[in-house]
Formats: sequence, structure tokens, C-alpha cells
Amino acid sequence: MPHQPPSDGLTLHDISVRFGGLTALDGVSLRVPPGRTVGVIGPNGAGKTTLFNVVCGFVAPTSGQLTLDGRPLRPRPHQLKKRGIARTLQGVGLFPSLTVLENVLVGESDRDRAEAALERCGAASYRDEKPASLPYAIRKRVALARALVSDPRLLLLDEPAGGLGVQEIEELGELITGLSCSVLLVEHHMDLVMTVCDEILVLDFGKPVAHGTPEEIRTDEAVADAYLGAAA
Ligand SMILES: Nc1ncnc2c1ncn2[C@@H]1O[C@H](COP(=O)(O)OP(=O)(O)OP(=O)(O)O)[C@@H](O)[C@H]1O
Ligand SMILES: [Mg+2]
Repeated sequence: MPHQPPSDGLTLHDISVRFGGLTALDGVSLRVPPGRTVGVIGPNGAGKTTLFNVVCGFVAPTSGQLTLDGRPLRPRPHQLKKRGIARTLQGVGLFPSLTVLENVLVGESDRDRAEAALERCGAASYRDEKPASLPYAIRKRVALARALVSDPRLLLLDEPAGGLGVQEIEELGELITGLSCSVLLVEHHMDLVMTVCDEILVLDFGKPVAHGTPEEIRTDEAVADAYLGAAA
């Protein structure tokens, strides 16, 4: 029988990142199991984007390893698709000279799938428009469609709710909840994280300070301390 790769999702093993004298991530271990949504939260400067960048291959860890379905993952930004990983970046990042549909075709050059991804993200009616003419929330939907069109096993989202209104965040939450792939969600917006995540990792000054279900995190003292400390 052919060997089936174990589908145990993405794992970060004891990842540390140092920028000169600054430790941005300090011994972070995390697993994103297949089909689950795992959130990473923490105050400003906690290391959330650094963690996201490590998984995307923008930042190489100073120490530690990544594995995807049991195999070592040394992510390179242009090779993510090959490993079944897609991402959206903080902000939007669409190509201004391309139409909405053409932007999604960058993610996967199959027209039917691009149309279906736009439909799924509620942006199909804007397919022939240029991004600059569209409201921010619609542009974010297009960016999500571009990530989803390749049917990733793992979707990485950095602050997808940034700049969105309450209603738009609710719709985004429903969309994320309906996804069948694994999701790693880096996000400031607590309500969204609490609603869509199966598990949450809390970082503070690069260190994991709590890890658990939304309910566990909501009542965790270390989490309250991290956020109150940041606000003080
Ligand atoms: N390329 C870099 N070079 C030097 N320091 C960096 C670099 N990227 C991030 N840092 C520092 O690492 C720490 C973690 O930053 P990071 O952007 O990961 O935090 P964050 O949790 O995403 O914060 P925010 O909520 O403000 O987006 C910060 O102190 C930041 O200044
Ligand atoms: Mg950030």
C-alpha cells in the first residue's frame, strides 16, 4: 500500500525569532490541526505578525522547526501554494491595474474556480471592477477569494478584520466558520477571535502566556494581565 502522509496539520516546534537584541518570539510551540481554526492574539508588539511571517517564510526562525503534515516545512513565500498554503496579508494587496476577477486568477488560473471563489466571498458582482473603485470591505473579500481559490489546506490570515465595521466582521466570521481548511488567524479583534477559533494562543513580549479554548482564554488571569499591562 502506498504510504499516506499523516495529516496532522501545521506544527510550530519551539520557534524563536531574534532581531538583533530584541526577542520577538521566544519558544513558541503551536499546532493547527486539520480543519481547525487557531487564533493568535496579544498586545501590540507581542510577536503576532512575526509568527505569521515565520509561517509565510518572510522571516526565518532563529531557532525551532516547522512541520506540515509531519514533514519539515521551510516556507518560501513563492512556494506556499505548492504545499497547500494560502494567505492574506495585513491590509489588502490587490493589483490595482487588474480587475477583481483578474486578481483572483492570479491565485489560480482557472476561471470557473475564480468565479466560484468570488461568489463564495460575496464579491462576484464586482468581478469586472478595478479594486480602487471598491469599498475597503469588498477589496478584503476579493483578497480572501484570491487566497481561497487555490483550495488551500491551510489558510493564514493576518488581521482580516482590520478596517471593517461590525456587520462586516460578523459576515467575515461566518465565512471563516464555514471553511473546511485549517486556519491560522492573527487578529486584534477579540470578538471575531472568540467566535471563530477552536483554540487561541496568547502571546506577550514574544512568549506564550496562555493557550486554550475561547472560554478558557476569556477567563484566564495571565491574559487579563497581559492586556491590562499593555493598556497601562
Ligand atoms: N523586521 C524587524 N526588525 C526588527 N524588529 C522587528 C522586526 N519585526 C518586528 N520587530 C519587533 O518585534 C516585536 C514583535 O513585533 P510584531 O510585529 O510581531 O508584533 P505584533 O504582535 O504583530 O504587533 P501589532 O499588534 O502592533 O501588529 C516588536 O517589538 C517589533 O518592533
Ligand atoms: Mg502585527
